[in-house]
Amino acid sequence: MINGGVDFSSELALNEEVIKRLRAIHLVACGTSYYASLIAERAFERWCDLDIKVDVASEYRYRNIRLSPNTLAVFVSQSGETADTLAAQRRARELGAYSLAVTNAKESTLASCCDDVLLLKAGPEIGVAATKTFTGQIAVLYLLAIYIAKVRGTLTPRMEKELIDELIRLPYKIEATLEREHVVEELASNFSGSQSFLFFGRGISYPVALEGALKLKEVSYIHAEAFAAGEMKHGPIALIDSNVPVLIVAPKDSLHEKTLSSIKEAKARRAPVIAVGFDGDEQLANDASHVLYVPPTREEFSPFVTVVPLQLLAYYMAKKRGCEIDSPRHLTKSVTEE
Ligand code: AGP
Repeated sequence: MINGGVDFSSELALNEEVIKRLRAIHLVACGTSYYASLIAERAFERWCDLDIKVDVASEYRYRNIRLSPNTLAVFVSQSGETADTLAAQRRARELGAYSLAVTNAKESTLASCCDDVLLLKAGPEIGVAATKTFTGQIAVLYLLAIYIAKVRGTLTPRMEKELIDELIRLPYKIEATLEREHVVEELASNFSGSQSFLFFGRGISYPVALEGALKLKEVSYIHAEAFAAGEMKHGPIALIDSNVPVLIVAPKDSLHEKTLSSIKEAKARRAPVIAVGFDGDEQLANDASHVLYVPPTREEFSPFVTVVPLQLLAYYMAKKRGCEIDSPRHLTKSVTEE
């Protein structure tokens, strides 16, 4: 239920008593699902009064993690068949955590092994590179965060309503962003010969930058790395020159001024800077070489819209380079071996 408030009480076995006793939430996943978890981490820490840990499953499964029945371990996997995520889930369960699957595959191994399941209901995803399921994962994890916060009394009804109202508007904003794809296509024509791209983002936009770089690597085979924008001067700046396009995810949020200063640093080193920002942000048009505008939204929800031009950029770059977009080389939809 969403219009009348977020309520998973009929879908989840995780009851209010258990939610109130929670001390920590772990989000564990691989690849794109991990980046969706990093975005959700910011929402969980903003709305729920809990310790949040996010890790890639291939690390989590071998660490000396402290878990208890008061830990909710959430395993995020589109396919529900990723070997590392399954192994991490087995370990968390053995150590006594309550395990929840967030997956698109109802009949998957992950869904059958966890104490509870939340389905994305995104429909089959044909392309190997995850796109719509990334959005679905963020949406489901946000709803879970809102629900947990509400049960624990850390989110007011007014705030819940504001969040839901904006969540309901998001599909229209995403659609409006998709309608601008010709702008991204044109931009891809300028950069399809580039050897390397750098992506930057701050706060909630950092995992968006990670996801944008992953998409570009996966489907266009262009080298791309992403960094937290605040790390630029700690090393990555040495790579910046006029041959390396820099993509900066720069929605107008509480860290915007700092993101603008990263744009200036990159421009000063003659990099072509592509910024992704909100409609009406004229400062961006002044500072960056190119701007991909998206409709504005609340700070917490910006990834839903800012990721879309990055997905489109990867798609059009791959198309211009003649790559096989739905089935990139060396990749499988689900990594079922370690
Ligand atoms: C996404 O574009 C990738 N192909 C890959 O990183 C994927 O997200 C990862 O293997 C995890 O898959 P899962 O969500 O099915 O567990």
